[in-house]
Amino acid sequence: MSSNQFASLYASLDQSKLPAHVAVIMDGNGRWAKKRLLNRIRGHEKGAEVVRTIVTACREIGIAVLTLYAFSTENWQRPQTEVSALMALLKKFLKNEKDELLDKDIRLGHIGQAERLPQDVRETLLQTMDATQHCKKMCLNLALSYGSRTEIVHMTQKLARKCRQGELLPGQISEELVAEHLYTHDLPDPDLLIRTSGEMRISNFLLWQIAYSEIYVTKTLWPDFEREELVQILIDYQQRDRRFGKVGK
Ligand code: FPP
Repeated sequence: MSSNQFASLYASLDQSKLPAHVAVIMDGNGRWAKKRLLNRIRGHEKGAEVVRTIVTACREIGIAVLTLYAFSTENWQRPQTEVSALMALLKKFLKNEKDELLDKDIRLGHIGQAERLPQDVRETLLQTMDATQHCKKMCLNLALSYGSRTEIVHMTQKLARKCRQGELLPGQISEELVAEHLYTHDLPDPDLLIRTSGEMRISNFLLWQIAYSEIYVTKTLWPDFEREELVQILIDYQQRDRRFGKVGK
């Protein structure tokens, strides 16, 4: 697509109807590599380049929160070489992108079990989060060592402890209180969930938070995903009638 064509596609976006929070299940790195007779790690490396492109595009478009599913609790069961390569890639990304995030006024956030990450990755993550905590234009939220069921278990434990300590009565537990005790307590729910590579599943991602998200599944493998397709998905989203269980206009 020429830059003129992209500019006109971009111009057709309705700035008043942008999703505040876009969440992405980045899938298909392995298949992208296999198709090219490459090692799976090459797919993840290309995937990391696409992360950079899409973060920049979201910042330019004006998306307030972008959550990327970068490593699930289940991913710990992959071969050790792949886990180590992914951890090295994440650390490199966090280190290399720090200045870019600061320059673009993007705050880095994290959801998941940071304590399960290797110490060097955890430290780099915390340092980059710390350095960017004042940034206001966008939040890049990385789901790392994240699993939604574990998140729900942790929320339940926190609320149960409050009940035992007499701070809360079971009958006072509300939807708001549940949301306040999830990793995403400071974020709006995703308006739009994108999954690449064509699989029709949620894979333990933000189960509570996506109750009313619009879902878009594209067959494109994550390493082939481009900003043009992101804009096309946003245009599709803007044409949907979000009813939240009520009747339409
Ligand atoms: C799924 O593809 C992707 C992952 C498990 C990892 C996602 C990681 C990246 C995109 C790169 C690093 C991330 C950042 C934030 C720098 P898959 O391996 O399951 O693909 P397959 O289903 O085709 O095998």
